[in-house]
Amino acid sequence: MKKNDKIFVAGHRGLVGSAVVQKLKNEGYDNLILKTRNELDLINQAAVAAFFQNERPDYVILAAAHVGGILANLTYQANFLYDNLMIQSNVIWNAHQYGVKKLLFLGSSCIYPRDCPQPIREEYLLGGKLESTNEGYAIAKIAGMKLCEKIYEQYSKQFISCMPTNVYGTNDNFHPEHSHVIPGLIQKIHAAMIENKPEVKLWGNGMVKREFLYADDLADAIYFIMQYYEDKLFLNVGTGEEITIKEVAHLIAELLGYKGALIFDKTHPDGTPRKLLDLTRLHALGWKHKISLKEGLGKVIDYYITYGANARFSITEW
Ligand SMILES: NC(=O)c1ccc[n+]([C@@H]2O[C@H](COP(=O)([O-])OP(=O)(O)OC[C@H]3O[C@@H](n4cnc5c(N)ncnc54)[C@H](OP(=O)(O)O)[C@@H]3O)[C@@H](O)[C@H]2O)c1
Repeated sequence: MKKNDKIFVAGHRGLVGSAVVQKLKNEGYDNLILKTRNELDLINQAAVAAFFQNERPDYVILAAAHVGGILANLTYQANFLYDNLMIQSNVIWNAHQYGVKKLLFLGSSCIYPRDCPQPIREEYLLGGKLESTNEGYAIAKIAGMKLCEKIYEQYSKQFISCMPTNVYGTNDNFHPEHSHVIPGLIQKIHAAMIENKPEVKLWGNGMVKREFLYADDLADAIYFIMQYYEDKLFLNVGTGEEITIKEVAHLIAELLGYKGALIFDKTHPDGTPRKLLDLTRLHALGWKHKISLKEGLGKVIDYYITYGANARFSITEW
């Protein structure tokens, strides 16, 4: 990518997209095309086709999607399936039609089969039954990855995907019921602390293990892949380190200074028991994450304490 190439970052106001924009700006890219959902609804096929016809971007980073935590995924399976199929098909196919040189699509580690061997290698995709709580989202994402792969094969175009683990960062969605695990934990534990509550109830049994990647590290990996990676097979992106939800919750409580008890409410679903990515391929290419979980959590907590009232609390109305 040259510094003056036209790069469309779809979903630039989101957790991942905003980190990608920051990374590209830091690297001196100033010809970015950024559209809010009001300016360009990516579900609208005609609008997306007209956009590509007029703008003709050179590169596309597709970080727009309907994304949510376990409750949102479970409750709105049809919407997660339909909206993501539409967004990604419109963007990927029109990028193909209108001469985009390279496109990077974002999958997600939660779309691997529920009972995968660990750590999860790229070739395990589609090797078993999906986690039922996010089946709609997973089916859509797998279709997006396959569309890129088939365009790569059939038209010899650099349409590739990466498979990030759970991402967290300052521009996360802190909605108490619709957020991912880290912003959800920060929001709940912080609220209990402010209200002087002796205990706080958290979802699930706390024993499932997860891997967490700071959004700036993911943006760095995306930039690396756009610059240097040209193969067809998608790449896992993560830290290679796992931790139980209970341990993360205690780390957050410690960083916030909350002294009350953390109670795990086992009546809530837990999701996949373990989800650790195998990073052999990405590490062999020379990329590794830089920000530790403790450092990243510290940044997000500082942000939330300072800007709590202005943090994102988004909920999509369907
Ligand atoms: N967060 C994670 O833990 C994680 C992990 C692995 C992979 N990923 C992948 O990373 C990508 C970005 O996720 P994220 O966490 O950054 O999500 P996010 O914070 O919710 O951001 C999603 C972005 O997509 C935009 N968008 C949604 N529907 C749209 C539509 N119809 N038209 C135009 N824009 C639309 C949103 O626009 P508005 O600003 O208007 O809402 C928002 O900017 C997704 O593909 C996701 O699967 C995320």
